[in-house]
Amino acid sequence: MNLPIATLERPGTADRAEFRNAVLAGLGATPRAIPARFLYDARGSALFDAICELPEYYLTRTETEILGRCAAEVAQRAGPDCALVEFGSGSSVKSRLLLDAMPDLDAYVPIDISREHLDGTAARLRRDYPRLRVEPVSADYMVLDSLPAFINGARRIGFFPGSTIGNLTPEEATAFLRRARRLLRDDGALILGIDLKKDPQRLHDAYNDAAGVTAQFTLNLLRRMNRELDANFDLAAFAHEAFYNPAEGRIEIYFRSLRPQSVTVAGRRFSFAEGERVHTEYSYKYDDAGIAALAGSGGFTITKAWTDPERLFAVAWLQATA
Ligand code: AVJ
Repeated sequence: MNLPIATLERPGTADRAEFRNAVLAGLGATPRAIPARFLYDARGSALFDAICELPEYYLTRTETEILGRCAAEVAQRAGPDCALVEFGSGSSVKSRLLLDAMPDLDAYVPIDISREHLDGTAARLRRDYPRLRVEPVSADYMVLDSLPAFINGARRIGFFPGSTIGNLTPEEATAFLRRARRLLRDDGALILGIDLKKDPQRLHDAYNDAAGVTAQFTLNLLRRMNRELDANFDLAAFAHEAFYNPAEGRIEIYFRSLRPQSVTVAGRRFSFAEGERVHTEYSYKYDDAGIAALAGSGGFTITKAWTDPERLFAVAWLQATA
């Protein structure tokens, strides 16, 4: 097999060809679906940052508040000379809450698919934490199977905040946890941020904000296809759709065709019936028993969990099970 160098150096990097292949496969499938990770081009990432500021989107501010409160205890549980390994680090905003509380940390390993994001983030972290070894890894953490050798001696503490795990189906989430369990080794642990089941209206509102930012985030995928795949989606002829599915315990997000129409994408024609949907995201919500079952399926045991007074969100310490 003849793998391009870039693939070998950066496993799973979302380049143009990968986007094209995923879109053509996803629009050709029944039911139609495009993987959520493609929502995060530069504009999509900026829109997601705006979502995090919305009054309806309680997740980010609630998790930040919990992390601020539990950071000292996290540091104590971790002990000195650990390596903190973040899966999908973005701009490492939340990790700073832990880094501030862990002066004895040996290394911080942010893993992110975006090389640009990582370089800027690593430079700022080295400036702000001069004693900390910062070793970024540019990779898709869903397929990564080793960590930099220089953290070999250190106890490994994983960090997977933001309820990013909610984007994964339970099967994918278990596969991720098993992978993380291997990377973090027998004495490791994973700090997991996860959104909790709650009043369905509250969940609905978090993904149907009054300002329409979440709708822009979903429809940005059409804009990205227009720009990168020479597509001709009419953004006014599709709508964002998000609802809570109580039986599955998840928010489901789609873009929906407002009329019968056909669209060209990368030279191929796709017809849409009126009302036809393309799936873009799941956002699974868990209760205590669900989190415990998920942790167990991945080879971890929950030894501590922190939440907010309204029990909107949880941060859990998953200890690798012997
Ligand atoms: C980044 C996956 C946690 O599911 O809440 C927010 C993504 N999509 N609004 C979530 C998202 C629309 C978000 N996660």
